[in-house]
Amino acid sequence: MSSKGLEQFLNDNLEDLKGKGLYNVIDPLDSPNGPVITINGKDLINLSSNNYLGLATDERLKLAAADAIKQYGVGAGAVRTINGTLKLHVELEEKLAEFKHTETAIAYQSGFNCNMAAISAVMDHNDAILSDELNHASIIDGCRLSKAKIIRFNHSDMDDLRTKAKNAAESGEFNKIMVITDGVFSMDGDIALLPEIVEIAEDFDLITYVDDAHGSGVLGEGAGTVKHFGLSDKVDFQIGTLSKAIGVVGGYVAGKQNLIDWLKVRSRPFLFSTSLTPADVAACIRSIEILMESTDLNKRLWNNADYLKSGLKKLGFNIGNSQTPITPCIIGEETLAQQFSKRLIDEGVYAKAIVFPTVPRGAGRVRNMPTAAHTKEMLDKAILIYEHVGKEMGVI
Ligand SMILES: Cc1ncc(COP(=O)(O)O)c(C=O)c1O
Repeated sequence: MSSKGLEQFLNDNLEDLKGKGLYNVIDPLDSPNGPVITINGKDLINLSSNNYLGLATDERLKLAAADAIKQYGVGAGAVRTINGTLKLHVELEEKLAEFKHTETAIAYQSGFNCNMAAISAVMDHNDAILSDELNHASIIDGCRLSKAKIIRFNHSDMDDLRTKAKNAAESGEFNKIMVITDGVFSMDGDIALLPEIVEIAEDFDLITYVDDAHGSGVLGEGAGTVKHFGLSDKVDFQIGTLSKAIGVVGGYVAGKQNLIDWLKVRSRPFLFSTSLTPADVAACIRSIEILMESTDLNKRLWNNADYLKSGLKKLGFNIGNSQTPITPCIIGEETLAQQFSKRLIDEGVYAKAIVFPTVPRGAGRVRNMPTAAHTKEMLDKAILIYEHVGKEMGVI
C-alpha cells in the first residue's frame, strides 16, 4: 500500500507528462538490436540505436562472450577490490589504454556510473567545475554529487568559457578547477572545440575532462575525439562508454597511472558495486581489437552517415549542426515531434522522438543514428518514408 501523498504525486505528474506529449512509451523488441528490428511482429529500419559499428550483434563478439562464460561463468563474483578482479578485467583495461593512447585505464559498469565515479573522486566542495550547458545528464549528476561549485558555460562558447575560467581562477576561492565537456554532443552531433578548451585550460591551470561516449569508435578513425584533435597527452580524463560503438556495456576512464590508481581507491562505484561480467568484458576486448585492427567499420559508418544526412537535407529537413553520424531532424513542438515519429514507425522506420527534458523545450526532434550495419537499400527506403511522412505532416 502506498501513501496518499505518493499516489497523488505519481498520478498528477504522469497525467501532466502525458497531456504535454512528454511521456515516453518503451517498446519491447522481439529481435536483436540490429539495423532492422522487430516490434509487435513488424520489421522496422532501426535508426534509434547507438550501435554505431553494428558490433552489438557481431558474431565475433558473441563467440568471445560465450567462450568467457564457459571459462569463467556468468558473474564476476564480487566487487573487484574484494575478490572479483578476473585477469579479463585487467586485460580489458590494458586494451583500453592502448586504444586511447594513455598510460592506463579503469573500467566501470556503465558510462553513466563512470561519471558518477570519476568526478566525485577528484572534485569536492572546495573546487569548481566549468561545465558545457549541453553536457550529458550523467556529467551533470556526477558534478552535483561532487559538491563542487558548478559553473555552466554557454554551449561551445569559448569566450564565455574563458571569462568564467578567468573569474574562477582569479577569485582564489577554489582549490582545483575542472573543465568538463562531451566530446560529441549526443542530441545535436556537434563536436566539442577541444583545441580551444585545452588552450583555455592551460592558461588557467584547469583539469580537463572529456566524455567521449559518442566520439569513440566514430572520430579519430575510431580512437575518439581527443585523438581526432591530436590531444591525447593534453586531456586528463578521457571517459568512454562500452555500450555504444563498442557494442556491449560498461564505461571507462583512460588517463595517467596516478589518476587511475586514485580512482581505484576512491571512486565509489568501483569500490561498492560488482564489476562487469566475464561475458561483457570478453566481448569488449574483442570489440576493441576489431577497432584497432581495421578502420573498415568506421569508414562504413561515415559513408552511411553522409548518405543519410545528405538525403534528409535534400528533402528539406532541418538536421541542425551535426558534424557526426548523429542526425537530428528538428521538428520543434513536442507533440508534433512525437506524432512525426509515430508515423515514421507506422511506415517502417524506427526513429524516436527526443523531447524536453532531454533537449530544450520547443526543440523536439526525431533523432537518427545510421550505423555501419545499414545497407544502402535500407537507407534509401528510410529516406523515401521520411519524404512521404514529411510531406503528409507538412514538416517539409
Ligand atoms: C555523453 C554520455 N555519457 C555517458 C553516457 C552513458 O553511457 P552508458 O549508456 O554506458 O551508461 C551517455 C549515454 O547516452 C552519453 O551520451
